[in-house]
Amino acid sequence: MLLRRCILLAALIYLDLVSAATIQKRGSLIPVPTPATPRTWKDRVRAVFFGRSEQPLQKKKEQTNRRHNPLSHYVHDIVLRFNISGPSEAAAMSDAINTLYLDVWSATSSHVDIRMPRGTVPLLLDVLPESMRNAHAPLVQSLADAALETYPGGVESPLPHAPQAMLQPTTGERSDILFFQDYQPLNVIVAWMKLLESLFPSHVELLTIGQSFEGRKIHALKVGREKSSGKKKKAIVITGAAHAREWISVSTVCYLAYAMITGFSRDDKGIDTMVKEFDWIFLPTLNVDGYVYTWEQDRLWRKNRQPTSLAFCKGIDLDRAYNYHFDAPSVSSYNPCSDMFPGGYPFQAQESREFANWADSLIKNGTKIVSLLDMHSYSQEILYPYSYSCEAHPPDLENLEELAMGLAKAIRIQSGEHYEVTSACEGTGFAGLPGTTGGGSMLDYFYAKMKVHYPFQIKLRDTGSHGFLLPKENIVPTGAEMFNLLKYLSQFLLDDGSPTAVIKPSDEL
Ligand SMILES: *[C@@H]1O[C@H](CO)[C@@H](O)[C@H](O)[C@H]1NC(C)=O
Ligand SMILES: *[C@@H]1O[C@H](CO)[C@@H](O)[C@H](O)[C@H]1NC(C)=O
Repeated sequence: MLLRRCILLAALIYLDLVSAATIQKRGSLIPVPTPATPRTWKDRVRAVFFGRSEQPLQKKKEQTNRRHNPLSHYVHDIVLRFNISGPSEAAAMSDAINTLYLDVWSATSSHVDIRMPRGTVPLLLDVLPESMRNAHAPLVQSLADAALETYPGGVESPLPHAPQAMLQPTTGERSDILFFQDYQPLNVIVAWMKLLESLFPSHVELLTIGQSFEGRKIHALKVGREKSSGKKKKAIVITGAAHAREWISVSTVCYLAYAMITGFSRDDKGIDTMVKEFDWIFLPTLNVDGYVYTWEQDRLWRKNRQPTSLAFCKGIDLDRAYNYHFDAPSVSSYNPCSDMFPGGYPFQAQESREFANWADSLIKNGTKIVSLLDMHSYSQEILYPYSYSCEAHPPDLENLEELAMGLAKAIRIQSGEHYEVTSACEGTGFAGLPGTTGGGSMLDYFYAKMKVHYPFQIKLRDTGSHGFLLPKENIVPTGAEMFNLLKYLSQFLLDDGSPTAVIKPSDEL
């Protein structure tokens, strides 16, 4: 008990140093929103880690006065949803997007969501066919306000803060963990990961799987108990933030790690089995540089921060950078300014390359990766290979579909939310059209080249009301529905593809 307290205290002093250093480093640059900073170490334990704070989160007004406002570009922007019916409309839209350099938020077979300055709307309507000119409706009206609310202590939310009672789960114990009440910046996440490793050394290890272009470490938490036989375990890898602005993917990977780590050895046989039978690798921020950039400069940044052949257009799309059906001849590959720029050649994007090399080394060392869950947002979809083509079908399509349907069911049982199951190509209405193909994806690469049998890309909440600017009230319920999915996945893999029991809903943290 005493020892644990000492470790905690040391960890918290460290956490203090980390945030002090960050603030100092940034001091002259940007006063970045920091999470509430309780005064005593006890408060801090509660607040940062266990989340039982007596006081409500302090909302500091000055936190909103960032000198370099990460939202300033978006004051005049709007997100529109266009209905798409048929391939000719899809092709016309794809053309328009490439011509006008529009930011596609989401594209399915039935609609496309596009962010653009209000002033650009008439231009777009002009180049679209007659039939599409009226088939659109605004999704997010005030982008800057919606974005501001995703930062901790940003503005008072228009809805009153959810009363404690509303958050109280049946167990009543760990309902209001502050870490999951807000999206968290990278420095807090890393300190939190170190803390978890020091508090639960029996089954948690902090890994560095590589380095980003700007020199940041890419961290992951490995959760698992060594087998007494010393045998290598199968691994399941779960990644977030391939795209920087998809913050819910980061919080969700953190939530899954936390639920498993703290659930172990607490009378939940399901969780104990998961920890004993598999090595779970939780990697919340693959695109570390981009993620930091979304906190400090541009909330809606998507790519990494690597320079391209055009000095004024930085960044490579980490999810198109892999060496499997790399998308060389497309429009986006000639255009470094595109949000989907895959790089000039496969694996030019450093973070994708480092991640693939790490996985390769893990496999060569004798660990079999059985599943990869790549978390994205938004549109509530569970996508299986292939992404690069709708005509090519994976040899074990039926198994992939069966498991994906089961995963969707586990979500539905937990929260009632519907997640569409489809191939990554079908899920993205544009794949196969010039300029916007789905080649070079992480999903396909891990399936085809790394022989991971069950890879999925999961697009988390919501279906478009807020898009990437998902209110933080969704962090816990999204995490909880994904944790139920994880339980189902584990059982499916252990039962060798024939799950017997239906997974019951779990308590939210
Ligand atoms: C788009 O399609 C949906 C479903 O088919 C329909 O309900 C909606 O009204 C359409 N929106 C517009 C703006 O045409
Ligand atoms: C594989 O083993 C080598 C040699 O022991 C080690 O340096 C490397 O870090 C291991 N790779 C992974 C991903 O653990």
